Amino acid sequence: MNKEEILLAQKEFLFPSVFHYFKEPLVMTHAKDQYVWDIDGNQYLDFFGGIVTVSVGHCNDQVNAKALAQFDKLQHVSTVFSTEPQVALAKRLAQITPGGALTKSFFTSSGTEANEMAILAARCYTGASEIVALRHSYHGRSSAAMSLTGNSSWRLGGVPQPGFVHAHNAYCYRCPFGLEYPKCGVACAKDLDEAIRTTTSGRIAGFIAEPIQGVGGFITPPKEYFPIVADIVKKYGGVYISDEVQTAWGRTGGKWFGIEQWGVQPDVITSAKGLGNGTPIGVTIAKPAVADAVKGLTISTFGGNPIATTVAGAVIDYIEENNIRVNTAEVGGYLREKLLELQTRHALIGDVRGMGLLQALELVTDRGTKAPASAETNQVLEAAREARILLGKGGLYGNVLRISPPMNISKADVDNFVKALDESFAKVSAPVGVL
Ligand SMILES: Cc1ncc(COP(=O)(O)O)c(C=O)c1O
Repeated sequence: MNKEEILLAQKEFLFPSVFHYFKEPLVMTHAKDQYVWDIDGNQYLDFFGGIVTVSVGHCNDQVNAKALAQFDKLQHVSTVFSTEPQVALAKRLAQITPGGALTKSFFTSSGTEANEMAILAARCYTGASEIVALRHSYHGRSSAAMSLTGNSSWRLGGVPQPGFVHAHNAYCYRCPFGLEYPKCGVACAKDLDEAIRTTTSGRIAGFIAEPIQGVGGFITPPKEYFPIVADIVKKYGGVYISDEVQTAWGRTGGKWFGIEQWGVQPDVITSAKGLGNGTPIGVTIAKPAVADAVKGLTISTFGGNPIATTVAGAVIDYIEENNIRVNTAEVGGYLREKLLELQTRHALIGDVRGMGLLQALELVTDRGTKAPASAETNQVLEAAREARILLGKGGLYGNVLRISPPMNISKADVDNFVKALDESFAKVSAPVGVL
């Protein structure tokens, strides 16, 4: 099919909810390492990684060689039979979870399903049902996951499930209390106590949060936030679930999991995306007591699939063998410096935040009022496309540029990306000198 035929077929045969970036949709044909090519032969430097998913580069040779060999050996038998790739991956994950305390895995095919399983496990373990999530969060697209999600744009259908409440996140750039860190005393975290006492029965099954809120626009809390929150969750008997669909596998730099940056020991971790480098996989990893509470029958046909678990094992090996977590911290730090430099030259950039190779720019039309620059964000994205770089969008107001390249990029890639991003901003806003 040519480009026009693909776009016409998309319009005619796919749900319109399968939306695009860009006024004229971009049709992609192939990719390698940090690059993707469109159907017209243009090459793009990919700094979004298929929504924080291409963790170790497109079509990674080492990973794909293992996947292809597994395709020829055993593709699927379902979880009613035992296979080596599934248990080998589970064993490997048990070795790298925080404190080595989360040792039992349940595999699925997506982050949504991983969160569904975590909620089920928390309810089975505690005998309670209510779950606390955070405002500005995103947890997936099932009915329960949309009910967990704290962003109206992603809560379709109009009938959220009961039993979910939303506490304040730590959105320091737009503090819900109008306070300033650290003078605020992290009031947003302390408010969780009152939120549980006033909006639940006082007995909760669990609390779920992303260590850095991804779709919300890489909202990064101050270091005190999650330790305070975790103590309150414990006080009310809840299971602490860390949704690491975007923040795991070294993405935040140095550590395997984002929650480790905050020094909190979770009871359950959920993940997906980067674990498969583009091959569908989801996982719920729990402390044995929580996992063992899920009695009775539940099954995921594709869970633990030999191809997906072989790929995931290969991704973890690649990260380990190539010191990718260190690279992420170093190159991420370099990227952060360059983004802060950009902020001094482009008035649109109100906030620079994130960790490791998970960095965001929040755009505002006025740094005083912080009015969201939603239209300008789209203009920068269009200009970036012309400059042949890919990045993502997010935030409640659609005014956050999300940057999450493969974690095995170099500082030279960052230089190329930032130069192109600088040019893109220049097309949308006139540089205004040091602000
Ligand atoms: C933090 C978080 N949780 C859950 C999900 C849902 O994952 P999936 O789209 O694989 O179902 C996402 C997807 O973006 C996510 O970012």
